[in-house]
Amino acid sequence: MIFKNAQVVTPAGVQRLDIRTENGKIAELSPQIAGEGIDCTGFTVLPGLIDMHVHLREPGFEKKENIESGARAAVKGGFTQICCMPNTRPVIDNKVVVTYIKARAREVALCKIHPIGAITQGQNGETLSDIGAMKAAGAVALSEDGKSVAKTNLMANAMLYAHGFGLKCLCHCEDAGLVDGGVVHEGYYSTLTGLKGSVRAAEDIVIAREICLSESLNIPVHICHVSTYSGVQLIREAKARGVQVTAETCPHYFTLTDEAIQTFDTNTKVNPPLREEKDRLAVLGGLKDGTLDCIVTDHAPHHEDDKRVEYSLAAFGISGLETSFALSYTVLVKGGVLTLAQLAERMSARPAAILGLEGGKIEVGAPADLTVADLGRKWTVDPAEFVSKGKNTPFAGREVCGKIKYTVVDGEIKYAEEAK
Ligand code: DOR
Ligand code: ZN
Ligand code: ZN
Repeated sequence: MIFKNAQVVTPAGVQRLDIRTENGKIAELSPQIAGEGIDCTGFTVLPGLIDMHVHLREPGFEKKENIESGARAAVKGGFTQICCMPNTRPVIDNKVVVTYIKARAREVALCKIHPIGAITQGQNGETLSDIGAMKAAGAVALSEDGKSVAKTNLMANAMLYAHGFGLKCLCHCEDAGLVDGGVVHEGYYSTLTGLKGSVRAAEDIVIAREICLSESLNIPVHICHVSTYSGVQLIREAKARGVQVTAETCPHYFTLTDEAIQTFDTNTKVNPPLREEKDRLAVLGGLKDGTLDCIVTDHAPHHEDDKRVEYSLAAFGISGLETSFALSYTVLVKGGVLTLAQLAERMSARPAAILGLEGGKIEVGAPADLTVADLGRKWTVDPAEFVSKGKNTPFAGREVCGKIKYTVVDGEIKYAEEAK
């Protein structure tokens, strides 16, 4: 296959190139390649986007999402690889569930799907899961996402074992005792709405703990969905003194603030919660200077039944796969925070490097995982058009820029925007 006349985001910069793929790999990159191809005039080719933090809900919560619907949403959003979190039912805490997800992913045959194993059995916070067996079956990382491992000694052991098997812990940082049932950020808008608040310290304390463990054990750690200005600063300082910490944030933390909760729209309910403008600005700063390595969606699809209830009872989460690229491009690149090449790093090369996955760069010999986007195209987010089962988005009606045209996985077109 040949992609012609595109602007291509390569490690050497953005260049006008043709791309030829062969046997699932990038075979040739050159200003002009002879032969028939797909005309990409006016389009931009990025390295296939990678989302290392997605909830696919299968097994157990297929009413919210399943591997097929989640993978469809992923390729529509430009993602060629995703990693799925273990808070399913049963929990991904053993090789059987890891093997099942990989088998379903092969049958669905859309994007590459990498399972993340739970740190403890059934996410019970008490007993380590069978880390070695999960690694052997194909788990790419470990996480207790949805909560933190409360016992610090157990978390230290988890890091040691995980590291021994070449896996990283991806840490959802939340001190449950301090959150104490809070559903939004504690501040002006929690007071205004009467919704129970949760302070930044509930997140920061665990970020600081994981950094301390990483530093004392000399083991790498990854911090999930950073939402606080103070958390960004903790990570920045740790990196500066050489701690092997990496971190992610999500589009909702750099596009929205807790001001959005005053409508009581449960689509704004997410964990960690939307915070204040100073936090949003710090997240932007963290993305700009690399303190925050990558952008993930924390795609958390829910059924209407979980969201059309009063705010305090609604499920936490945002269905993010189909809006992540456009929100990121619009706010970060058009907003002057990142260059296009930096955005590609945050959405592809860095997550690949953090997890040791193939891909993340457009270069000869790499897997032909490509995301073709029309960066000039404006469109309006409409959850009714989502292919994810989760229509829960706080971005409905928002105008964004940047539309995915094709998603190519191992040289095969897995998504093509239908002509309108
Ligand atoms: O908003 C969230 N939703 N945060 C989490 O940590 C878990 C996730 C979910 O599984 O729905
Ligand atoms: Zn989480
Ligand atoms: Zn999550």
